[in-house]
Amino acid sequence: MINKGIILAGGRGTRLYPLSQVTSKQLFPIFDKPMIYYPMSTLVSLGIKEILIISTNEDLPTFKKLFSDGKHLGLEIKYKQQDHPNGIAEAFIIGGEFINNEPVALILGDNLFHGATFISKIQNKIKSIENALILGYPVKYPQMYGVLEFDENKNIVDIIEKPENPPSHYAVPGLYFFDKNVSNYAKLLAPSQRGELEITDLNRMYLDKGFLEVELIDSEVAWLDTGTHQNLLEAGKFIETFENRQGIKIGCIEEVCFNNKLISIDQLSNLADNMPINEYSIYIKNIISNSKDIDG
Ligand code: TTP
Repeated sequence: MINKGIILAGGRGTRLYPLSQVTSKQLFPIFDKPMIYYPMSTLVSLGIKEILIISTNEDLPTFKKLFSDGKHLGLEIKYKQQDHPNGIAEAFIIGGEFINNEPVALILGDNLFHGATFISKIQNKIKSIENALILGYPVKYPQMYGVLEFDENKNIVDIIEKPENPPSHYAVPGLYFFDKNVSNYAKLLAPSQRGELEITDLNRMYLDKGFLEVELIDSEVAWLDTGTHQNLLEAGKFIETFENRQGIKIGCIEEVCFNNKLISIDQLSNLADNMPINEYSIYIKNIISNSKDIDG
């Protein structure tokens, strides 16, 4: 069982310039919510309520303003600074004290997952996690990701970071689960040619020791990363289309915390009362009245 999760929400955001000049990309809107609501909802849906947000010195105050200590959501949210974008795997060094020799999940602040059975599938895998677990997801252009290499028996033999000639179409999405040793392993990493502590190198370390499991997820799951202007717009359109069609929201953190029994109906009601009256707060108020109807 994994109780702790890290959201990595720093980085340079160079591909999103000039949008990212003065605002953290993880606070950009994905249709009707700040981007970070989505990865946070994913962690909470997985049953994780102790969350560490890692971001830059400049952006941390805004995240703190957004979530404070998380108590109003039934969460325990802590914050740590990454001085420089030294790579994704640095999260496990910065988060060492938070991790405190327990298993931990890491989600990138610009990764968005959605799928009917996605959460239950991953929950089943992490129930008895002993090693590390990463995902594999088929994409058209794997070149910009860590890519899985398989042998003829479909076993993973390697993970290659941003390969020119990808050995498969399976990219590794930004959601990872590690055992209690992850901080110690991360400390053994040397910076790559581009000067970063690479998550792919950490995954390869686990792979080499025979401690890495890979769960292939299929197109039933939507995995969007929002790193470019086009991706950002596409993610917003995806959420808009889904929400308008189905009448339910993706990444509504208040709803997710309520569904996971982290807050009561009265607490949810309080949250809604403190919001301006708009489509978002009306949605939450509808959840409250529907749930009262069901409970009689
Ligand atoms: P990337 O998209 O790889 O990097 P970036 O956000 O700096 O963007 P760009 O490539 O356009 O310059 O990062 C993936 C996620 O991880 C993103 O949410 C930012 C985060 N990140 C950090 O917080 N610290 C880091 O050192 C790195 C490399 C990434």
